[in-house]
Order: sequence, then C-alpha cells, then structure tokens
Amino acid sequence: MNQPFSQHVLFKTSQLEEADGPPHNPSDNPTMGEIIGARFSRRGFLQGTLAVSAITAMVSPAALVSADAARAGTASAFQFKEVEAGVDAYHHVAEGYDADVLLRWGDRLFADAPEFDPLKQSAAAQVRQFGYNNDYVGFIPLEGSSTRGLLVVNHEYTNPHLMFPGIVTVADGKVKQAPLTSEQVDIEMAAHGGSIVEIEKVNGKWRIVLDGRFNRRITADTGMELTGPAAGHARLQTKADPSGRKVLGTLNNCAGGVTPWNTYVMAEENIHGYFSGKLPEKHRESANYKRFGIPEGSYEWARFYDRFDIGKEPNEPNRFGWIVEIDALDPTAVPKKRTALGRTKHEGAESIVAKDGRVVFYLGDDERFDYVYKFVTAGKFDPTNRSANMNLLDEGTLYVAKFAEDGSVSWLPVVFGKGPLNEANGFGSQADVLIETRRAADLLGATKMDRPEDVQPNARNGKVYVLLTNNTKRSDEQVDAANPRAGNAFGHIIEIAEAGGDFAATTGTWEVLLKCGDPSIAAVGATFSTETTKNGWFGMPDNCAIDSAGRLWVATDGNNNKATGRTDGLWAVDTEGAARSTSKLFYRVPVGAELCGPLFTPDDQTAFVAVQHPADGGEDWKGHGRPSYYEDLSTRWPDFRPDMPTRPSVVAITKTGGGKIGA
Ligand code: FEO
Ligand code: CA
Ligand code: CA
Repeated sequence: MNQPFSQHVLFKTSQLEEADGPPHNPSDNPTMGEIIGARFSRRGFLQGTLAVSAITAMVSPAALVSADAARAGTASAFQFKEVEAGVDAYHHVAEGYDADVLLRWGDRLFADAPEFDPLKQSAAAQVRQFGYNNDYVGFIPLEGSSTRGLLVVNHEYTNPHLMFPGIVTVADGKVKQAPLTSEQVDIEMAAHGGSIVEIEKVNGKWRIVLDGRFNRRITADTGMELTGPAAGHARLQTKADPSGRKVLGTLNNCAGGVTPWNTYVMAEENIHGYFSGKLPEKHRESANYKRFGIPEGSYEWARFYDRFDIGKEPNEPNRFGWIVEIDALDPTAVPKKRTALGRTKHEGAESIVAKDGRVVFYLGDDERFDYVYKFVTAGKFDPTNRSANMNLLDEGTLYVAKFAEDGSVSWLPVVFGKGPLNEANGFGSQADVLIETRRAADLLGATKMDRPEDVQPNARNGKVYVLLTNNTKRSDEQVDAANPRAGNAFGHIIEIAEAGGDFAATTGTWEVLLKCGDPSIAAVGATFSTETTKNGWFGMPDNCAIDSAGRLWVATDGNNNKATGRTDGLWAVDTEGAARSTSKLFYRVPVGAELCGPLFTPDDQTAFVAVQHPADGGEDWKGHGRPSYYEDLSTRWPDFRPDMPTRPSVVAITKTGGGKIGA
C-alpha cells in the first residue's frame, strides 16, 4: 500500500502527538509561530504594550535584580548563573555544571545486544537496547543509595522519519516517506514501552551497569495484566483474550512516577494514533472512541497486526489509556494495568503519602479542555512491609477537579451510583465509569483545563503544582478563573493547597502561580516576577520535578519555534517568599527537541533529564544545517560531537566537582 508522506514528518512532533490541534487534521491548525505572530503582532505590541516594553528595552531586568533582591530579602532559592536562551544544534547547561549523555536510543542494556547501527536495525536488537523518545525518568535507589539505583525510563513514541535511514526522499522539492516494512513496524513496537536499567556513579560520573540484575525492556508486546474494577469486563475482552485480563504491551507512555513503595508507574497517553479501521455500524464504543479521538491512525501497525484495526478487534483500544504499574525490583514481575485510576490520555502519576497513610496519585489528562484527576487509595501505605503495598492501586476513589471562581477546588468522586453516573446515562457499573472516565467527568461538571500535563505534589510546602501546557482553542467566552487566557498559547501553572494540608482532602484552594510567555509583551499577559530576565521566561510548561529542598523545576515542550527565540529547557521557578514567580534558565536542549522527565536523585546532586526527538520539526530548521529526517549527522555537521544528544537521550547533569544542584 502506498502511503502519503506521513504527518510525522510534516508537523512538529509535539504538535502532532500532544494535540495542540487535532492530530488527524493538523492542516486546520496554524503553527505556534503563526498564532503568536497573529496574536502578538508588532502592531499589537506597539499599541498595547508600549509602557512595559519601553521599560524592559531600556533596562535589563537582570541589572535590576541583585541589589534590590538582596535589600528586600527577595533572593531566589536557586544559585546558578543562568544560561542564555537561544536556538542551536547543541545543549547548554549553566556554568559550573556538566551535562553528560548517559543513555541514547539504541544503547545496549545487555551484553548480548549488538552495538547500535542505524543501518542494521532489527526488532531483536531493539528489544535489548534502550528504546526511543525517552519521556518519564524515575530513580529507584538500591539500598537507599543516591549513587546506585535503577533508572526507569518511558519510551513514549517513535519518529520513523528520524529513525530509519532512507525512508524519506526529497525530489523536486517534495518530501516523501515510504511505507514502513513489517520489520520497521516491529522495531517501532520494540522501541516503545520502557527501560529499567541499573546505573551507578563512579568518581562523580554516572554509567550504566550492562546486564544489571534488574535490567529489563518493556515494549508494545510485553505481556501485562489488567487489574482493578474494570478487569475482565466484557468491554475489555477480545478474540485473543476472552478473559479481558491479559494485554499485550503498553503504548505512548508519557510521564509516570515512582510510588512510595518503589514501583514504577507509566502513564498511557496518546493511544488513539495506534488504531486504524472503522467500527461496525452503531457499535457500542462509537461515542467512547469519538471522545478519545480513536482511530487516528498515524501509525501503520494495523497493516500488520489485526488488533490495531478496530473493525477487526473493536475492544482493543479499551485496553489502553491506563496507568501501568511495574515492580522494577522483580525482573519477572508481570506489569499491571491499574484500571481503578481511570482511562484517559494520562500524562503522569506522581504520588504522595497523605497524613493518614493513604496514598494520593495526581493525574493530568492531556488534551485541550480535559481534566485534572486524583486517586486516593483505600488502603494505607505500610513502610515496613513492601509486599503489603503491592496492590494498593486496585482499590480507592478516583476524583476529578472542579476549580471554582472563588479560588476553591472540589474533588468530585468519579464513582458509579454517585450523581449522574448511573444507568440512565449508560453506566452499568464502576467498570463502565472507568472505561469512559472522560464522559463521566463531563457529566460531573469538572473544569475544562488548558491541557493538564504533570501534576506534582510537594511534600515540603504541602502544595500541588498543575502544569497546563497551552490551549490556543479557548475562546473569550470559554475563559474562566482557572484558565484565564483566551487563545492560551503559552500555558500556565496552578498551585493547589489541599484543605488542612491533607493531600487526601476533597476540597482545597488554588491560585495561578504563573502565566507563561514573554513578560515584555504586555498583551501576552505573562506573570513572571520582574526579577526574571529575558532568558528566564518560558512557555508551554509540561513536566516538572520537585527537588528534596522542595524547589520547583519546570521542563517545557513547544518553545522550539522562531517566535520564542529559544529551545525547550529546564527552568528553576521560585515558589516561596518575595522571589515567587522568578524563573531562571538552567539547561536547554538542541533544536527540534523537547525536554522531558526532570528528576533529582535524593541527594540533589544529579538531575536526570530526557531529551526527546532532537532534530524534529518539519522544514523549520534548515537554517541550522540540520535535517528533519534521518541523516548521518557525523558527516553532515563539520562540528559534530559524539557526546551531544543527537538522538533521544537521557542526560545526567551534575555540578563540576560535586555538590547540590542550584545550591
Ligand atoms: Fe506526552 Fe502530554 O505529553
Ligand atoms: Ca507535552
Ligand atoms: Ca509530557
């Protein structure tokens, strides 16, 4: 079958995968550059923002900062010299720090794996090598160590145009992608999922332990179990699995988490792209799949595997979109899809132990106008008996957030029999409610948000940070207090304080910590503190980390365009005292990449970051001498350095000579 040139090549990955415009119809959506250009044109800039821009043009905010800050006690909690924002082919970290590539796509995790050779790829090799497009990064200490542990890494999705040499041809100015072969589809499936790999720090530098006893690859083919209230339900049964309890693989694992009992959780996000075909007429799942955007069909897997064709296997998509839990400390453990946490385009699943010992998981559903959730376990965490915690995720209450105009938030139970979640609305049980979590939340009147990504509790200050990437489709009429900007191109961050400082509470208060974007353009409405320099502002907050000092670090997805003049990166954001909302750029990625997974070791001496899809970006980046499809960069670039993250990579950032980061 001859495929037209894939949308993967024509459009920036983040635009396609992250739904800033319907993935199935990207032509409807202007690029971020166009949106910014139209909304914040030079004319608008002059008309609306003269006062602010004049001030910022004359006096660098940086110049105003230090003396005033020192006098007023407003100094930032972060001590490092900021990186210059910009766009180029390399990565950059603050002076005095090292950013070392630790793991790249194709690196061997086992001694029997072949060395990575892009010209000799195979599924058999890929399943023993580090996967593609690293997203979530977690660290599970071994024996409490900060220098030896398991790195757990999600492999969210694949970019065939960047992976497979020769698949893209350019003739007469037209770019074409060949259909994938069956082997290439198998490589894609093997490049998905996750990696569990032992790492150790020796003489101040991290290295992987080849053949570490816990090393493991999880793929789109790994056998898994469905557990919890929806397991076994008829809507989860297929020809291959009449039990409705056994699934092959996990898809599109975006962010995730490590539980208090040191298991690894992966969040299945944009699962709609893997399914093709057409449901039988008047099929029960029609409305369910429409709400989820299924089938979107940007992957070619259904050509080789019937289970990805919803005409042939209509229930298969109901077996994806869950939170998956893996015991990384048992290489034989069967991964479990925990249905109690609902089925959405899950961004992540960060958790914290509440006052009474129950465990609270915060969950974003990353789509425009979708919701923020939390799950509270029924049972309590037992720190002295790990095995007693291993099924905590099968029983508990899922809640969805309603943010009120008065600054309060209510967590509404997504529970069968409560309110409208009943038979009259097509729900026969909690299983139905969970399979159609989004529709249940619609009926409950949850607040439609600007693409909820990471939601992160902070044990040090008792707050919860909700990162909202953007939503350029929000109209003036749809603005509310929690999503205060129409055409929200740059996103914002909400800070929740749960009632009584109890993460399990069903009420709380909230405020906007930060509206993102360039603060020197008043029409953007950004709210970075005046101490934030021209390098310090960012747009499109996506992932975040809280270090052990309780400080917030934000990673972004989508700054990679000409309008912002900066690539994505890692910014340090003050949340406390007079420095609140001050942001500083610590690290930035190569052109075309987004930054995922920031994670600090317990001693705060290492930050692991995941550089995803470097070099992607359609035709945008010709000026940088870099192709947007596979090419051997060592011959293309005269200044190529093999130590750069030129393919998806986990990078370990440490202070030169040792010490805590940003301290
Ligand atoms: Fe995969 Fe919502 O980022
Ligand atoms: Ca994102
Ligand atoms: Ca993300």
